Amino acid sequence: MKDVVVKLIAEEVDFDICEIEGLLEVPPRSEMGDYAFPCFGLAKTLKKSPGVIAGDLALTFVKVLPKEIERVEASGAYVNFFIDKGIFARKVLGKDYGKKVLKNGKRIVIDMSSPNIAKPFGIGHLRSTIIGNSIARICEANGFEVVKINYLGDWGTQFGKIICAWKKWGSEEKLESDAIGHLQELYVRINATDEFDDECRLEFKKLESGDFENLALWKRFREMSLVKFQKIYDLLGISFDEVSGESLYNDKMDAVIFELKEKGLLIEDAGARIVDLDDVGLGKVLIQKSDGTSLYATRDLAMALDRKKVYDFDRAIYEVGAEQTLHFRQVFGILKKMGYAWADDLVHAAHGLYLDSDGKKFSTRRGKTVYMEDVLGEVVEKARGNLEARGDCDNLDERARRIALAAIFYGDLKNNREHNMVFDVDRFLSFEGDTGPYLLYSYARASSILRKIKFESKRQDIKYKDFGDLEFALIKKIDLFDNVVVKAYEDLSPNLIANYCFELAKDFNEFYHGCPVLGGESEAFRLEIVEVFRVVIKKGLDLLGIETLEEM
Ligand code: ARG
Repeated sequence: MKDVVVKLIAEEVDFDICEIEGLLEVPPRSEMGDYAFPCFGLAKTLKKSPGVIAGDLALTFVKVLPKEIERVEASGAYVNFFIDKGIFARKVLGKDYGKKVLKNGKRIVIDMSSPNIAKPFGIGHLRSTIIGNSIARICEANGFEVVKINYLGDWGTQFGKIICAWKKWGSEEKLESDAIGHLQELYVRINATDEFDDECRLEFKKLESGDFENLALWKRFREMSLVKFQKIYDLLGISFDEVSGESLYNDKMDAVIFELKEKGLLIEDAGARIVDLDDVGLGKVLIQKSDGTSLYATRDLAMALDRKKVYDFDRAIYEVGAEQTLHFRQVFGILKKMGYAWADDLVHAAHGLYLDSDGKKFSTRRGKTVYMEDVLGEVVEKARGNLEARGDCDNLDERARRIALAAIFYGDLKNNREHNMVFDVDRFLSFEGDTGPYLLYSYARASSILRKIKFESKRQDIKYKDFGDLEFALIKKIDLFDNVVVKAYEDLSPNLIANYCFELAKDFNEFYHGCPVLGGESEAFRLEIVEVFRVVIKKGLDLLGIETLEEM
């Protein structure tokens, strides 16, 4: 409906559409209209007071009022527009929110999750998994084909250390019972001294040049880690189109180094090789160490070049912690210097940290390692406990899992991803307030009303009239959905969807308490509202990766 108002104004006022859209306000109270146009900006050119202009405009509009607008009024310096609620409701409730999205023919690859093997799955990797998954869904809802890639940290000098430590102190028994724990312990032990540094470097060099024994060990550690990680992905219900990692680019590094040299970008620096980005304020980037081994940045360069070839993407998104901001600026900066215009299509979608309730970084809590599967398991157990405490025991496992995931996903996604956030499981799990379970509950409530009367939608046949503020507020909120989905893509901000879902659920619950749905003259109309709310909130939650429950 906003477009109708904008069009009407554009015919009389010498502003362009975007300007008018920007100026148009939603008044704080419904008796002041549905939209208000402030006339202050016109005073100078028209050489009249804003109040007089508002009066003149209102008189002009009245003569050419489209049927969608019921009436206009001047009030002070504003022109207030009252839209025809019946027409509006018919339009909003008649839309097909469940329809398939038309593909726009463009492809996005998204780098997400990307934990490091032989190390515990970190809390930052959990954020990347949850946010990356939601961004992927939002891109799909905007018509893009999306390729989700888990780029494992499975290469680098740390594997020289782990292999070296394993050869010295490794225990088959411990490896079998807790692979990641044991490898982590070995890594910490060898890092505590510089005694073996040369040996470690040598082991990595051997690995990079294809030494049989080291490769076999590395492969084994990698597979064992993947089995562990897969358990987490299964619990989260998140999958990937490609699981690869830094190791995949080992044989493509020489080509990158050669190309950098050819393009005159590689500089010898005390035996090592660097690219100088000082001119763009990004410092010097180490590309090859003096012993010939590669670095994280070198592998990201090779990977970007390869991905462009394989997927021919229109955009590549890297969902990685904000602490890697400089790294990505450097990688993108080097690609740009190499002459690749598509370097502008690479985006680092950064996220902040999870904090403990004491404000410290979550993963360092009490100095010991937190295993992700334990953290997630605890949340599921708590959700189960909450259900049991209500004496509610049907299908307990699946319901506890969905409630726990809704709590965690929503608890994360409702925040601006770049901000740090407190990981507070008890608050996330609450059924009241701005939480995932509250949203699931609102959905289930709508579903249960409709189930009770075996509802079938008649959409177009019903009379949309004589309805009150609560109904109208909810319909207006529903109307915003499509715009929010677009905006969430533009800003790569799942929180816009999350916050919208919360606002929508709040309006629904107010409507539900204020307007008896069953019985009475408005039943058919109100049932339609409930149905459309149900469809829209399910879609919104789906964009966050949250599965709904028909019954809570
Ligand atoms: N494995 C890395 C880490 O845990 C994240 C990888 C992110 N993706 C990338 N293309 N660099 O820090």
